[in-house]
Amino acid sequence: MACRILFSADEARWAAWLPALGAAFKDAGLDVELTTDASEPEAFRYMIHSPDGPVADFGPFTGLEAVMSTWAGVENIVGNETLTVPLARMVDPGMIEGMTEWVTGHVLRHHIGVDRHAANRSGKWLKEHSPPLARDRTVAMLGFGVLGQACARCLAAMRFNVVGWSRAPKRVDGFDCVSGPEGLREALSAADFVVLLLPLTAETENLMDARAIERMKDGAVLMNAGRGALIDDGDLLSALDSGKLGNATLDVFREEPLPPGHPFWKCPKVTVSPHIASETRPRTASRFIAENVGRGLRGLPLLHLVDRRLGY
Ligand code: NAP
Ligand code: GLV
Repeated sequence: MACRILFSADEARWAAWLPALGAAFKDAGLDVELTTDASEPEAFRYMIHSPDGPVADFGPFTGLEAVMSTWAGVENIVGNETLTVPLARMVDPGMIEGMTEWVTGHVLRHHIGVDRHAANRSGKWLKEHSPPLARDRTVAMLGFGVLGQACARCLAAMRFNVVGWSRAPKRVDGFDCVSGPEGLREALSAADFVVLLLPLTAETENLMDARAIERMKDGAVLMNAGRGALIDDGDLLSALDSGKLGNATLDVFREEPLPPGHPFWKCPKVTVSPHIASETRPRTASRFIAENVGRGLRGLPLLHLVDRRLGY
């Protein structure tokens, strides 16, 4: 009998996902029945889930073996007490590529000073100095997981120095790796560019508050592609106003869409990017989902399971 899988996401996404999932399951040799119709909840063995979809109560899905998130960040689902089966987060090659391009693009933008010249309509020849070389600049990657490491590899290929900060100590060839509060201080004080690619958890919320920002180099740039609540908005605005920080490039916000009256819109040193740094691409992501469902059906451990205790 075909394995029933529920696709629970914003209805508008179904048209793009259905052919991609169909092809991926076919190529994986799996007999599945995919649907958005949840009318027989007990019949589903797997659920492909997005927080913008209809399912918030997993209780009725009594036959469920696992939930596959279409998002990398799982802060919206990880604390759901009705979810008692394993939860796999999204690790999608397409998303990784997109994030690498977004982060590298913005680091390069600030590194070579694109904004200064792009905005210059003064007729003045602003030739004070050439940009330094990447080898003389340091990027702190706060969050050195799937996305952070991919971005780090791309930046390192351009000769930026990259220091990666993670929760658990780790060794990654070619990079300075630090962890814990001391490691954070080290990374912040060394960096010209600080990139946030952390999950939102009880431990990371408000990580970038006045104290952490104070540790950063004067004039440094903060980029957030993780989650809005990693930053204390008021403390960031004060640091930009005082000149402590040079710029903030923000893709994620406490409230999305960012409300029209939010001071970030008016601050000339803030770039508001509307949560487009990267997204799950159905074609590549479906391959990962099919692989994981296949593993589940063969009794193998699923890939990229969320640790509910840690929150990511
Ligand atoms: P990941 O592979 O799980 O990596 C998370 C990293 O954060 C790991 O290095 C982890 O440390 C570290 N971390 C977690 N808690 C920490 C703490 N308390 N102190 C220090 N480090 C901590 O996740 P990912 O796939 O790279 O994704 C990261 C985040 O990016 C997602 O959670 C999501 O919020 C965000 N995201 C945003 C977009 C966008 O378009 N803006 C798109 C996708 C994802 P360990 O290595 O020790 O576990
Ligand atoms: C996007 O922000 C994601 O977490 O997948």
